[in-house]
Formats: sequence, C-alpha cells, structure tokens
Amino acid sequence: MIPILRGSPMTIRTLLALPLALLLGACGGGADQPDAPAAQGAQAASGTTLTAFQLEHGIGPVTEAVTLGALDPAMAERGKATFETKCSACHKFDARYVGPSLGGLMERRTPAYIMNMILAPEEMYTKHPAAKQLLAELMTQMPNTGLTRDQAREVVEYLRTVSPTPSGQ
Ligand code: HEC
Repeated sequence: MIPILRGSPMTIRTLLALPLALLLGACGGGADQPDAPAAQGAQAASGTTLTAFQLEHGIGPVTEAVTLGALDPAMAERGKATFETKCSACHKFDARYVGPSLGGLMERRTPAYIMNMILAPEEMYTKHPAAKQLLAELMTQMPNTGLTRDQAREVVEYLRTVSPTPSGQ
C-alpha cells in the first residue's frame, strides 16, 4: 500500500537535492527525530521520518483514518460549492493546471490524506514525499485555504462524485 519511501531512497534524495531543499531547512524534524549523528545526512535528505500512518494518510490535523459511508449528496453539494470558490482556480480534473489534476484522486489518496493536504498543505509539502514531489514538479506551493475540518470533509464527499472510490475504502 505504501510504496513511497522504502526501496527508493536515491529517488527521494535526488528530489530533495533540488533547490527545494531550501524550503526544508527551517523544519529540521525536531522532536520526532532520533539524533544519531550517523543518520544526519539521511535525515537532512529525507526530511522527517514519517510513520506508516503519515505515509498513507498524510500529516496534519487528521490523525485517524476517515471512513467513508454511503455518499451524502447534500454534503457533496456543499463540498462542490467550496471547491468552486477555494480550489478550482488551481485544480482541474482532466489536466494539470496551477496544481496537479485531481482526476482519479480518490484512487491514489486516502480521504484523510486529502483532508490533511487541504488543512495543512505546508506540513505536507515540506514533509510528505508525495507532496514534496508534486511541489518539485509544479514549483508552486499549495496555499492553506482556511477551510474547517468539516468543509474539508465535504470537499472529499464532492471529490467522490467526480472520482470513483476504489472498493474497500
Ligand atoms: C494557489 C493554487 C492552489 C489552490 C487554491 C489549491 N491548490 Fe491544491 N495544490 C496546488 C499545488 C501547486 C499542489 C501541488 C504542490 C504542493 O503539494 O504544494 C496542490 C496539491 C493538491 C493535492 C495533492 C494532489 C495529489 O495528487 O496528491 C490535493 C488533494 C489538493 N491540492 C487539493 C486542493 C483542494 C481540495 C483545494 C481547495 C480547498 C486546493 N487544493 C486549493 C495548488 C493549489
């Protein structure tokens, strides 16, 4: 499920060798980093050591997996309105724009991951390898759009209507 970090340290190191490493300078990891000197290089290159949960569900205020029930059309409708005012300036579903295409998003990211990306983009693009990679590709930081957690959840509901959810999620 989490093919991101393991097995490809060189890829990650290469990515982080980009000027974007500058962005990471300010957030050296802090409390959750063991500080064995021998590991300093690897830590500097890979940023923060993430837990399995963080790799799958992202980093931010959502610290438990979000279970989706039956689609709630009213919630999706509210999410759509939010998406149109706060997100559509940068995201389309069929093409890369200012931000990545969100077509098929629910197939590649969990609901909690998406909510963390919405609620704490700066945490994500400085610490999570997938978000860091997108930042490296697009050279634009996703801003914090100031949504509440409920609004972020509604956006996920809307995204379900434009992007099929894989079974089992
Ligand atoms: C100013 C432009 C901008 C706005 C507004 C914006 N985003 Fe983004 N978004 C980006 C960029 C650029 C990235 C990729 C770089 C990064 O990770 O920061 C991104 C990344 C994402 C990702 C990660 C996609 C993936 O494949 O992992 C999601 C999900 C996302 N945005 C959803 C949203 C939602 C939902 C909103 C509205 C609440 C929103 N964005 C508002 C620019 C924007």
